[in-house]
Amino acid sequence: MGRFVITGAARREDGRRGIGAALEARLREEGHEVITVDRANADLVADLSLPEERARVVRELHERAADGLDGLATCAAVGGASGSVALVEVNFFGTIELIEGCRDLLRMRGGSAVIVSSHTFVLFPKEDVVDLYMSLDRERILEGVAKRGGMTVYASGKRALVKWMREQVASYAGDGIRLNTVVPGYTDTPLSSLDGRDETAAKWAEDFRSKIPLGQRMGRPEEVAAGIAFMLSPDASFVCGSVLYVDGGHDVNLRPGPIEY
Ligand code: NAI
Repeated sequence: MGRFVITGAARREDGRRGIGAALEARLREEGHEVITVDRANADLVADLSLPEERARVVRELHERAADGLDGLATCAAVGGASGSVALVEVNFFGTIELIEGCRDLLRMRGGSAVIVSSHTFVLFPKEDVVDLYMSLDRERILEGVAKRGGMTVYASGKRALVKWMREQVASYAGDGIRLNTVVPGYTDTPLSSLDGRDETAAKWAEDFRSKIPLGQRMGRPEEVAAGIAFMLSPDASFVCGSVLYVDGGHDVNLRPGPIEY
């Protein structure tokens, strides 16, 4: 059985599950060892918005998993309304610094890392903001996005993650590590909850949902977790640098025709 790290997999008291928590449940059920990382209710409690906390997580993972990791899935993220600092720190650096920090552990076991992006990466990104992210210069990014809208910063960061992955694939593959990305569509989780939102948000959500070809419904976290679990598994041993949409076909309506990354 394997050993996997999942960020953003907190066990919530209200019983609702995000994608990371659904993945944790699935991998544990299959008999794997799982180390979860989240702000609370996780095996390793840490605030991934802070650089020193991200470094501590990497250090602790080297202690807990000294003989290597079979996989890492980066599900931790905040939504577009959370402010640009959290969006940059958690969603972007919380992903790439963990993958880079665990590279040697993944190499030991020929493991793989799965980045969780978002279908918003095709909807709202601005190329100048994507380019800023791709500078990997934290101060410059934080300064550059400070006055940009939340969805632009969220979606551009998610797009930059896909670009970063594609740039890194050959180098990681040289170490026997597969990098892949899963793109969830509109999924029923705490992140997408409409609790406390107004009627306009509810109308927008209804319209958005109606464009999902498969049942005009939101995805379940377990359905996205199944895609990530596949990417992490030996069944995906030759899948490398791929972007897997788990979105009920929504992308086809959002972006008809052949796609480019
Ligand atoms: P969620 O809100 O259920 O899970 C995100 C987790 O990240 C939470 O457990 C949260 O505590 C954790 N987190 C947030 N800030 C953190 C911090 N500073 N330090 C440590 N942990 C932190 O959200 P969901 O929906 O499960 O999202 C998982 C991934 O899927 C995210 O990358 C999200 O962007 C992506 N996604 C979700 C979609 C949806 O409709 N739910 C659509 C497209 C992408």
